[in-house]
Amino acid sequence: MALFGLSLFTLFSLTHIALLSTLCSAADPIVSYDFRVSYITASPLGVPQRVIAVNEKFPGPPINATTNNNVVVNVHNELDEDLLLTWSGIQMRRNSWQDGVLGTNCPIPPKWNWTYQFQVKDQIGSFFYFPSLNFQRAAGGFGSFHINNREIIAIPFNKPDGDIFITIGDWYTRNHTALRTALDAGKDLGMPDGVLINGKGPYQYNNTLVPDGIQFETINVDPGKTYRLRVHNVGISTSLNFRIQSHNLLLAETEGHYTMQQNYTNFDIHVGQSYSFLITTDQNASSDYYIVASARFVNESLWQRVTGVAVLHYSNSKGPASGALPDPPNDVYDKTWSMNQALSIRQNGSASGARPNPQGSFHYGSINITDTYVLKTVPPQIINGKLRATLNGISFSNLTTPIRLADQHKVRGAYKLDFPNKPLNRSFRNDISVINATYKGFIEIIFQNNDTTVQSFHLDGYSFFFGWDGLW
Ligand SMILES: *[C@@H]1O[C@H](CO)[C@@H](O)[C@H](O)[C@H]1NC(C)=O
Ligand SMILES: *[C@@H]1O[C@H](CO)[C@@H](O)[C@H](O)[C@H]1NC(C)=O
Ligand SMILES: *[C@@H]1O[C@H](CO)[C@@H](O)[C@H](O)[C@H]1NC(C)=O
Ligand SMILES: *[C@@H]1O[C@H](CO)[C@@H](O)[C@H](O)[C@H]1NC(C)=O
Ligand SMILES: *[C@@H]1O[C@H](CO)[C@@H](O)[C@H](O)[C@H]1NC(C)=O
Ligand SMILES: *[C@@H]1O[C@H](CO)[C@@H](O)[C@H](O)[C@H]1NC(C)=O
Ligand SMILES: *[C@@H]1O[C@H](CO)[C@@H](O)[C@H](O)[C@H]1NC(C)=O
Ligand SMILES: *[C@@H]1O[C@H](CO)[C@@H](O)[C@H](O)[C@H]1NC(C)=O
Ligand SMILES: *[C@@H]1O[C@H](CO)[C@@H](O)[C@H](O)[C@H]1NC(C)=O
Ligand SMILES: *[C@@H]1O[C@H](CO)[C@@H](O)[C@H](O)[C@H]1NC(C)=O
Ligand SMILES: *[C@@H]1O[C@H](CO)[C@@H](O)[C@H](O)[C@H]1NC(C)=O
Ligand SMILES: *[C@@H]1O[C@H](CO)[C@@H](O)[C@H](O)[C@H]1NC(C)=O
Repeated sequence: MALFGLSLFTLFSLTHIALLSTLCSAADPIVSYDFRVSYITASPLGVPQRVIAVNEKFPGPPINATTNNNVVVNVHNELDEDLLLTWSGIQMRRNSWQDGVLGTNCPIPPKWNWTYQFQVKDQIGSFFYFPSLNFQRAAGGFGSFHINNREIIAIPFNKPDGDIFITIGDWYTRNHTALRTALDAGKDLGMPDGVLINGKGPYQYNNTLVPDGIQFETINVDPGKTYRLRVHNVGISTSLNFRIQSHNLLLAETEGHYTMQQNYTNFDIHVGQSYSFLITTDQNASSDYYIVASARFVNESLWQRVTGVAVLHYSNSKGPASGALPDPPNDVYDKTWSMNQALSIRQNGSASGARPNPQGSFHYGSINITDTYVLKTVPPQIINGKLRATLNGISFSNLTTPIRLADQHKVRGAYKLDFPNKPLNRSFRNDISVINATYKGFIEIIFQNNDTTVQSFHLDGYSFFFGWDGLW
C-alpha cells in the first residue's frame, strides 16, 4: 500500500498474504508494452528541468487493456536510480510480485529491465501507473491505464465518439532529487509552482500570471459529439477542481465502477483519483473553451499560479479562449461542499462491468468482518531529522529483504507482523510493521485524518466496493 498525498517515502503496512499463483492465464489475450523509462529535459512551466519520460513521452503512453487480458510490460530502467512502476487501483489477484511497490518487489536497478506480467481479471475502468520509489512520481513516469469492457458486455452509455486521457497534477520546477533532499532535511515543500495538464503548463489566460512561451495542452473535438474524458490526479498533494467552460461533466465511471450518470459543472479530484466524464460538444464554438484544474482548500489569491489551464478546441471554433476562467466553488475553507459532492456519487447497481451480472449483485452488507483497523494520520512529523508521513505513528522503513522474498527464503526478522489496529499513544517512529491479516478474511479499514489538510489514501493492488480507491 502506498500512501498518497503525504510523502511516498511512507510506504506503510503491507497486508501479508501467503500465496503465490500462476502469473498469467494462458487462454486470454496478451497486450504487451515495452517501456523505456528515462530522463528528458522539459520546460512545462518555462524553466528547463529534468523530468521522467516513458519512451521519451511525458506523460507516458496509455496502457489499453480489456477485461481478462494478460498485461505484459517490459520496463527498462534508464534512470540513475532504482525504479518500480506500480499500477494504481489494478487488483493484483494474489500476485503481489507484480505490484511494483517497495516491500513486495525488489527494485529494478539502473540499466536493468524487468517484465511485469499480470492479468486484469474481472476488472474494467480507468486507472494510472506511476513510479513508486524515491519521489520519482513528482518528476513524471506516470500514464493512463484503462481496461475496456469485453465485447459481449455493453457499457452503460452510448459508445463515445472518442476516448481522451487527461492527467492533472501539481508541479514543482525543482527536480525530484531536490524535492527529496528538502524532505530529508525536515522541510516542507511549500506551494507548488503550478499545475500541469497532460504534462504541459497553463494557456496564457492572463499575461500577468502566465509568462509568454509556455506550451499548453489543446484537446481537439468535433461539434455535436460525445467524448469520454478519463481524468487522473497524478500530483503530489494538491486536491484539484476540474471544470470545462460552458460544458457539463457527466460522471460515468470511477476507478473500476460505473456510476449513476449525473451532471456536474465542476468536480473535485483528489490526489490519486481517476474519473470518467462524458462531455457533449453542444456549444456554439464562438471561441475555444478553457479546461481548468485549480487548487482546492487554499487561498486562491495566494495560490493563483497553482492553476492548470488547457484548451478545448472545436474543429469549427471561431477563435481563441479569452476572458476570465470559469468560477471555482466559492468555499475556500469549507470542505463540506466537496464532501457532499463525493457523497453524491453512486454506483450504478444495474450496470454490468467486468462480468455479465450487474455490479450491484454482490451483497457487501452481509459480509462478516474478520479484522478492523483504525488508521490515523496526523501532519508530517520529523523522525530522525527527516519529514515523514505516518499512520498510527509509524513511517514504514525500507526493508532489506522484500516481504515475499523473505517468506520464500524464510528470512527471519525481515519484517514485523505487529502493525497496530488502532492509534497508540507512543512516539513517532520508523518501523517495519506489517498488518497481520487473515487469509480469505474481510478487513474493515477506517481512515482517520487528523492532519490539517485533505488526504487521499491509496491501497495498492486492491479495488474497493465503492469505486474510490482513494478515500479521504
Ligand atoms: C484500445 O484497444 C481496443 C481493442 O484492442 C481498441 O478497439 C481501441 O481502439 C483502443 N483504444 C485506444 C484509445 O487506443
Ligand atoms: C529484458 O528485456 C529483454 C528484451 O529487451 C527481454 O528479452 C528480457 O526477457 C527482459 N528481462 C527481464 C528480466 O524482463
Ligand atoms: C536537480 O536539482 C539540484 C538542485 O537544484 C541540482 O543541483 C541538480 O543538478 C539537479 N539535477 C539534475 C540532473 O537536473
Ligand atoms: C490578471 O491577473 C491579475 C492578478 O490576479 C489581475 O490583477 C488582472 O486583473 C488579471 N487580468 C485580466 C485581464 O484578467
Ligand atoms: C447532462 O448535460 C447534458 C448537456 O451538457 C445534457 O444533454 C444531458 O441530458 C444531461 N444529462 C443528465 C443525466 O442530466
Ligand atoms: C455562444 O454561446 C455563448 C454562451 O456559451 C453566448 O454567450 C454567445 O452569445 C453565443 N454566440 C453565438 C454567436 O450564438
Ligand atoms: C487570502 O490572502 C490575501 C493576501 O494575503 C488576504 O488579503 C485575504 O484575506 C485572504 N483570503 C482569505 C479568504 O483568507
Ligand atoms: C445504469 O446502467 C444502466 C445499464 O444497465 C443504464 O441503462 C442506466 O442508464 C444507468 N443509469 C444511470 C442513472 O446512469
Ligand atoms: C456471516 O456469519 C453468519 C453467522 O455465522 C452466517 O450465517 C453468514 O452466512 C455469514 N455471511 C457470509 C457472507 O459469509
Ligand atoms: C532499500 O534498502 C536496500 C537494502 O538496504 C537498498 O539497497 C535500497 O537502496 C533501499 N531503497 C530505497 C528506495 O531506499
Ligand atoms: C498473525 O495472526 C494469526 C491469527 O490470525 C496468529 O496465529 C499469528 O500468531 C499472528 N502472527 C503474529 C506474528 O502475530
Ligand atoms: C482526530 O480527529 C477526530 C475526528 O475528527 C477528533 O475527534 C479527535 O479529537 C482528533 N484528535 C486529535 C488528537 O487531533
